[in-house]
Amino acid sequence: MSADSTAKTTPPPVVQVRDMDFCYGTSPALFDINLKVKYHRVTALIGPSGCGKSTLLRCINRMNDRVPSARVTKGEVLVKGKNIHDADVDLTQLRKQVGMVFQKSNPFPKSIYENVAYGLRIHGEKNKSVLDEAVERSLRQSALWDELKDRLNANALALSGGQQQRLCIARAIATLPDVLLMDEPCSALDPISTLKIEELMHQLAQEYTIVIVTHNMQQAVRVSDYTAFLHLGKLVEFAPTEELFTNPREKLTESYLRGTFS
Ligand SMILES: Nc1ncnc2c1ncn2[C@@H]1O[C@H](COP(=O)(O)OP(=O)(O)O)[C@@H](O)[C@H]1O
Ligand SMILES: [Mg+2]
Repeated sequence: MSADSTAKTTPPPVVQVRDMDFCYGTSPALFDINLKVKYHRVTALIGPSGCGKSTLLRCINRMNDRVPSARVTKGEVLVKGKNIHDADVDLTQLRKQVGMVFQKSNPFPKSIYENVAYGLRIHGEKNKSVLDEAVERSLRQSALWDELKDRLNANALALSGGQQQRLCIARAIATLPDVLLMDEPCSALDPISTLKIEELMHQLAQEYTIVIVTHNMQQAVRVSDYTAFLHLGKLVEFAPTEELFTNPREKLTESYLRGTFS
């Protein structure tokens, strides 16, 4: 059965993409996408390079707005039931609600503390004890507190690659987002740092909803509850991860999983 077979025991979708087409200028990139992302679950987007995984991910917090010609040409994206293209949507607020972590870690050239406090500061928080508390909580939830608590004033750029990526996760969760988007967050990391982030994702899913793009099918199996398989801009199949990997309904999914094409 479909991913909806568990609907009775899990809450409603936090993100819903409905009948969405997306174009870069005159080039269509996504076709008639329908996707429901469940609360406190990890959803993986997989598929061959160029199939539209990052584009779809960036539709969820309107990061594609940065590309001048990029447009949703049909359908809609709802976050907690609200259409994110409505005129009254504030982009800063949306990106607080839907945080993002990128392939290459991108901490600011500031202290560890200021990196994590950044989101709260731009939303006007000045109270030191509120900031301190958010920094500690976020670093704990990113499994960095014990490593870094004695050098919160050190420059973030002095950290290792894996620590920098976990710091970017801490920065993204400091503002308590409803959804955390991750675009191939481990692809620049060594296997041990990758493992740490994967473990972290399991813990983070207790408090947050995660959508992760990964080109690594084994990673999708390890970290996700649901998987969407995309091919040439279409969402071919969406199912609980175990089901999609062991018993795909679509021939195309099956041949991708078998490695018949990449
Ligand atoms: N900024 C952009 N401008 C124009 N075309 C783009 C842009 N970003 C991606 N595309 C195109 O959109 C399609 C999907 O790309 P992308 O979402 O990056 O795929 P994936 O993340 O699965 O590798 C590709 O054909 C790609 O060339
Ligand atoms: Mg991509």
